[in-house]
Formats: sequence, structure tokens, C-alpha cells
Amino acid sequence: MTERRKVASYGDAGFSQFLRKAFARHLGHSTEDFKKPVIGICNTESEVNRCHTHFGPIVEAIKRGVLMEGGIPLEFPTISLGESFTTPTTMLFRNLAAMDTEEMVRAQPLDGVVLIGGCDKMTPAQLMGAASADIPAIMFTGGPMGNGEYQGQTLGACSDCRFFWQEYRSGTINDEQLEEINESLAPTAGHCMVMGSASTMAVVSEALGMMLPGAAAIPATENKRLAAAQETGKQIVQLVSKDITPSQIMTREAFENAIRMIMAIGGSTNAVIHLVAIAGRLGIKLPMDLFDQIGKETPFIANLRPAGKYQMQELYYAGGAPAVMKELKDYLHLDELTVTGNTIRENLQGVKAVSDVYRDIIYPVQQPLHKGEGIAVLKGNLAPNGALIKPKAASKDLLKHKGRAVVFFSIQDMEERIDDPDLDVNKDDILVLKNAGPVGAPGMPEAGMLPIPEKLLKQGVRDMVRISDCRMSGTAFGTVVLHVAPEAAVGGPLALVETGDMIELDVEARKLALDISDTELNQRKANLKSVRPLAERGYTRLYQQHVLQADEGCDFDFLVKAENE
Ligand code: FES
Repeated sequence: MTERRKVASYGDAGFSQFLRKAFARHLGHSTEDFKKPVIGICNTESEVNRCHTHFGPIVEAIKRGVLMEGGIPLEFPTISLGESFTTPTTMLFRNLAAMDTEEMVRAQPLDGVVLIGGCDKMTPAQLMGAASADIPAIMFTGGPMGNGEYQGQTLGACSDCRFFWQEYRSGTINDEQLEEINESLAPTAGHCMVMGSASTMAVVSEALGMMLPGAAAIPATENKRLAAAQETGKQIVQLVSKDITPSQIMTREAFENAIRMIMAIGGSTNAVIHLVAIAGRLGIKLPMDLFDQIGKETPFIANLRPAGKYQMQELYYAGGAPAVMKELKDYLHLDELTVTGNTIRENLQGVKAVSDVYRDIIYPVQQPLHKGEGIAVLKGNLAPNGALIKPKAASKDLLKHKGRAVVFFSIQDMEERIDDPDLDVNKDDILVLKNAGPVGAPGMPEAGMLPIPEKLLKQGVRDMVRISDCRMSGTAFGTVVLHVAPEAAVGGPLALVETGDMIELDVEARKLALDISDTELNQRKANLKSVRPLAERGYTRLYQQHVLQADEGCDFDFLVKAENE
């Protein structure tokens, strides 16, 4: 076992050891106990993060596993980010959580760590922190909620939050029905149960090799989640004894496997930003073109909402992420090391093929649900560094569309004017939202699924092309173009769009273009007044000064590792 436990410096090494020994007697431990592997349990349980309220028994199970294997578990807290309660957006604080995780893991006298997360930004933040701290680490997510139910229909958080809210605004359901639906949207402990950002990042953790096989899809309330937690506790002690660290597991090939999985399961667009950020911590660059190329090649085989029909509970019954990986094996790098201490090839040996009963949930690669394009990367004079769309969550007839731009200067401007009966807008127009990116908003909130103007909803319109420099929830849907880079607030071309301009979207050609001449574009650029905002003080100021653009993972420039460093 590699000696990792540094001692706080008091300018006298002997005294420092003497003092630590005295204080390490807390919890009743003896000096002998600390000769065993010390395992940090990074617990993000919080009552203001509803997806992390059930971690108590999970932490206990992990500790049991550590003790069984001869280690000493020491639980410690870090920041916990709950998606629905955090203002203005959890994305503003993902890097803060990653720094907290990295620095606490590095600063404490630990030989290894288990990271317990689940809600959207926590899994990527913890993986970013683990990558930089680079001591043996295993990710463990709290698991998805069980399905909700309304009038015989399965409900999913939070695709149905959006779907039914839109129906309510259009007048097809009333207050009483809306309240009844609201009661069942998030019915159990756990994270959102559609293939949104939380579920995607859980599956990504397995594909990267950082979580035990099968752990992602086990519902939060199933006994097997506690069994998996106990196994994780045992395994981290093994990982410490073998000195296997995240940088040995999260290789370039492992990231390619993770991208493949995102495409095969119709995962969240947010995962693109997170993967680029995690890889950046290890000096690995993941260009947007790589996502597009892998997206085109990879069969889309998991029938999961919002792009498909089922939710995490059904994926679990069908065999979870290992069953998808087994199906996808010819597309994966199989010799990548994982936290089991074995390769993906070895992990998949014991995984059963998908039973016929579950073939509507996980399709064979030879007869996929769709040919590819879980996520497509668009480029053009409106997005020189790329923009994303989920073609399978969009309306087919809008994937090639030319329309007149209706521009909103900011999220606040959009909120104030979108339902104005006098707004000059029709169903063929393209709604454009500026200044909602990493620097502009700040924090790149999930406002990219712009609401359809109420007057159009009442005419039966349910989708329009929408373009912005912000994100959308992984649970959202529609013909929504996101992550336009560079963003408007740093002078990206989105800042130059004016109401009445024609915009061309052609997903098959991967094109997103503003249909004005270069001369006019350059003229507007020359006249553009800098709108880059900067908070007066504090963390937000630091964030706006150092956050990178969407195609670069939105990490802080000073946290990214140089290539081959
Ligand atoms: Fe936590 Fe959706 S609110 S995962």
C-alpha cells in the first residue's frame, strides 16, 4: 500500500505525529487501528438536497463493507447540490463542489475514498475532484426514484413536470389535476428516474469504470442498493491494497466508452459538458467532433425517457448498465481497468444477455431503436465552437428548418415577454435566448427549453426550434439547440442575432447558420458593445473570471490539467 497520509505541519514532524496520535483516539480508535487502510466516506447527505436525504443506511452499508475487509471508515461531509432547490442554478456551484471534494480528499489522512452522490451536478463534481486528487476512489450514487403514477400512466421526474406544466398552460388540464400529478412526480427517495443528467452520470460512472457494475440503475429503495453499497465498501479496501487510482481507470479509451454509452442510452446533453470537465482534470481533451463522430457510429439501443418510453426502474429489471454494455461490447474498449480491479471484458463475462422479455427496453445492436445520433453537434457561423441537439427528443419535421428569429436578450427578458399577447411570433419562428451561458447568466442554467408562447400553445403548438447558449435539463425535450459556443456574453455570434434575421437549422448537415452576409455580420461585430458581466465580489466573481466555455467543459481555467502534464 502506498503511504498517502501526510501529517499537518507544525514545523516539527515528531510533534505533529504525537499530536495526531492523541486526536486520532476519537471514536475509540487505537493507534493500532490506524495501521489499517483508512477509507474516507464522502457523504453529501442533506435535507436541502432531496435526492440525497436517504444516504444514512447507504453510508452504514459502505462502512460495514470497509470494516469487513479490514479498513477503518471515516465519514466526512462536503457541499451538497440539490437541483430543484439551488438558486440560480447548481451548475454555478459544480466547480465549487469539485474543489471542495478534491481539497478535502487530499487534505485528510486517507488511503482511499468512496464518493456518495446522485443529484445532477454531484456525480460529475465528485469525479472531477477524485480525478485531481488521484487517490483510490469509487463512486457510489444514491439510485433513482421508483416510478410515479397518475391515472394508469407512469410519471417521471422531471420530464413529466415539464410535459404537464405545458399542458396546464395550454388549458388541457386544470388546477386539481395538476396538484394530483404534482404529488406523484417525485414519489420516493432517490434521484430523477428518467434518463436525465443524474441517471446519465450514474451510467457514465459505470462506463468509465469508476462505479461497481450494476450499481447505477438499482432503485434507491431496493435492498440490492444496500448490498451494492456494502460491496463498494469492501472493494475500496482492495483498491487501496492494489494502489489503483482514478488516473489509471479514467483513460482516453474509458472516456470514449462513456461517450458511447451516452449515445446508446440517449443520455443527457449535460453529460457532454461534464465528461469534458472530468477528462480535463486528467489532461485529456475531448473535442466536440469526437462526440459527434461517436454519436453517428453508435446504435441507440436503450428505450428510455425523455427520448424513449421507459425509466430507470425498467432498465434495472432489464439488467442495468452492464446489460447495455454487454450489448454494446463490439463498440467498447474492453481492456480498460475498472474499480473491480478487473477490465471491462472481465466484468462483462458474468453478465447475462438481455432476456426477450426486456427487448423493448434494451434493443440488440443489430436492430437498434434508432441508427445513431443520441446527441448531434452542430456548427456554423452562429456556433463556431459547436452547439448540441438531441435529435431523438426533437420533432422530426423541425430537424431541417429555416425560420425568423425572435430574440430575447436575457432569461428575465424572455420571462417578461414570452406570453405577451402582443409578441410578434408564429409557430415557424425560431426562439433565440442570449446571455444565458456560463458567464452571461451566470452558471448556464437549464432554461434552454424555452416555453412555447401561451398564445401558440392554445393554438395547439407543442414544439418550436429554440436556440440558446444555456443548457436544458436532461429530462427535457423538444427541438432545442443548446450550449452555443462561444456564448453571447463573451462576444460569440449569438450576441449578433436580431429579431427578424433568418436562421437555418439542418441537423443532418450539422449546420446552424445565421443567414446574413459576412459584411453585415462583421459590421454588427464592430458595433457590438461588450456586455460581459462581472459580479462585484465573492464566488460568482471568481466564477465569471475563470469559467471556460461549454465546449471546454465549463471548468475553471486554473483547475484543468495541461495535456501530458
Ligand atoms: Fe436531483 Fe433531479 S432533482 S436528480
